[in-house]
Amino acid sequence: MDAITLLKNDHKAVEQLFRRFEKAGDNAFVDKREIVDRIIEELSIHAAIEEQLFYPVARATVPGTEDIALESLEEHHIVKWVLSELVDLDPAAERFDAKVTVLIENVRHHVEEEETEFFPKVRAELGRKALSDLGEALAGAKNAAPTHPHPRAPDTPPGNAVVGTIAGVIDRVSDNLSGIAQGGVSAAQDLIATLLHTKKPKASPTGSTAARTKATSLRNAAATATAGVQETVSSTRSGATRTARAASAGTKGTITSAKRAAGATATSARRAATTTAETAKTATKQTASTAKRAASKTAAAAKQAR
Ligand SMILES: [Fe+2]
Ligand SMILES: [Fe+2]
Repeated sequence: MDAITLLKNDHKAVEQLFRRFEKAGDNAFVDKREIVDRIIEELSIHAAIEEQLFYPVARATVPGTEDIALESLEEHHIVKWVLSELVDLDPAAERFDAKVTVLIENVRHHVEEEETEFFPKVRAELGRKALSDLGEALAGAKNAAPTHPHPRAPDTPPGNAVVGTIAGVIDRVSDNLSGIAQGGVSAAQDLIATLLHTKKPKASPTGSTAARTKATSLRNAAATATAGVQETVSSTRSGATRTARAASAGTKGTITSAKRAAGATATSARRAATTTAETAKTATKQTASTAKRAASKTAAAAKQAR
């Protein structure tokens, strides 16, 4: 399926959900919750794949789409904020319906602009093959796309790259954008070069200069995306290492202080035992001498009495 058909199908699916919401009764809270949850999921995925692939590819390859792509990103941003507020809002809350109504108005306006101004430019510029490759990439990206709104997350490459997928996807699209021949030839040249252990031959002369320029700029975008991904991976790794070190230091600290505490307890227990024993001995001695004294007094008293 080509990219624009895929995106328009998403728009239709969301519009159907909007109509269902508009028809739902005032007190149909369970239905409204279910419909809004589906709207949240559909729009989150749709926005993500447009931001990861469709907008960057259009900006880099279709003249005159820079401004509309930037405006689209801002519209997505507002929509994601409203979606994020709807995630936890009780459908019985007095602001719920109003929020969904504003969401629907915003999305309808945005979809209208995409379908009448943005998509026609892209369709006119990119060939059928490129649109179909882009469509395939969009369909693939759906599987890895977030299903919840993240309005604070970056919405342009490389920040919005999904680790391990985006770089590959952009690379594939860039290969195919320059034409079937060049894409195929380039892949074949790479393979032959690898098998013969020779340097990669210069790019095939097939494909127009404009197409090759597009492909190059997309490959550069892919390289930037890859760099971003690598940065994320390495900072994640160093974060993990720091956490592991801190955890092991924490564990050692805990063990040491536990040992110290145990030692201290044993010592004070010993001390307490000694003190108790001494106290007991003293008390026993005292008791014995008191008893002796009492006994001799008793004996003396007995003698006198006789
Ligand atoms: Fe959009
Ligand atoms: Fe869209």
